[in-house]
Amino acid sequence: MKRRTLLTLTLGACVGIGGLAQAQNLANAQDKAELKATINNCSVCHGINGHSVSPTFPNLAAQQPVYLENQLKAFKDHTRGDPNAQAFMWGMASGLSDQMISQVAGYFSSQPPPPPENGDPKLIAEGHHIFTHGIPAEGVPACASCHGPDAAGRGMFPRLAGQHQEYLLKQLLVIQTALRNAPVMHGVIRDLNRQQMEAVTTYLASL
Ligand code: HEC
Ligand code: HEC
Repeated sequence: MKRRTLLTLTLGACVGIGGLAQAQNLANAQDKAELKATINNCSVCHGINGHSVSPTFPNLAAQQPVYLENQLKAFKDHTRGDPNAQAFMWGMASGLSDQMISQVAGYFSSQPPPPPENGDPKLIAEGHHIFTHGIPAEGVPACASCHGPDAAGRGMFPRLAGQHQEYLLKQLLVIQTALRNAPVMHGVIRDLNRQQMEAVTTYLASL
């Protein structure tokens, strides 16, 4: 903002008041070019339109904008610090202004959802059950109660539908072992075992 105001003022002073509108257009064009360059950088790993090819890199397409913003801020202030977050995202997020964070979040959240992944139908059925009913005997609540009945997420609750299975499983593991700080989720999945994690993530990726 500051740089842009300065540019507007400087150019405005050079070309007179009549040229202010023109200077503003130039500043807007510069903002747009900066946003485009940032999106291109992200696409190297997260794929064109936020549809990533490798499961190491989460799909960002159709993700909740509030969640995307929260994560980018958590990478930037190092509160999300699991090994891959540190290795890949701390550096990427360090140079993003709050304004840029909100713009890239807006861009990726408005892209069409990623395509579903195939999976073992037995695991998918078991995972569907866990997602919608939880595991009451083990104190695991229904995932749908926060992530939504179709796993599309809402606000701070991320979309999980169509996310890569391997990425989701990795997150459950780093959240359970507290390598990734996610206060609400720690209690929820404390007693989820590896097989149940495989099932619920295979279901989610298949959506
Ligand atoms: C060099 C590869 C790479 C680049 C470039 C990159 N990312 Fe990432 N990003 C990752 C990896 C790997 C993860 C998963 C980290 C983890 O496992 O905790 C990630 C995670 C994320 C997440 C969290 C998603 C979720 O579901 O929790 C967001 C948001 C994100 N990146 C946004 C961006 C944005 C915006 C850019 C461009 C400014 C970007 N990334 C550039 C590799 C990259
Ligand atoms: C009480 C609400 C709540 C319930 C119930 C819940 N979650 Fe979450 N979940 C969250 C929140 C909040 C986050 C985001 C944490 C953050 O901002 O880092 C999250 C994040 C996640 C992530 C990380 C997504 C990503 O893109 O990195 C996964 C995976 C996940 N939840 C799976 C599940 C599963 C599976 C269940 C059911 C066993 C479940 N959640 C139940 C609130 C909940």
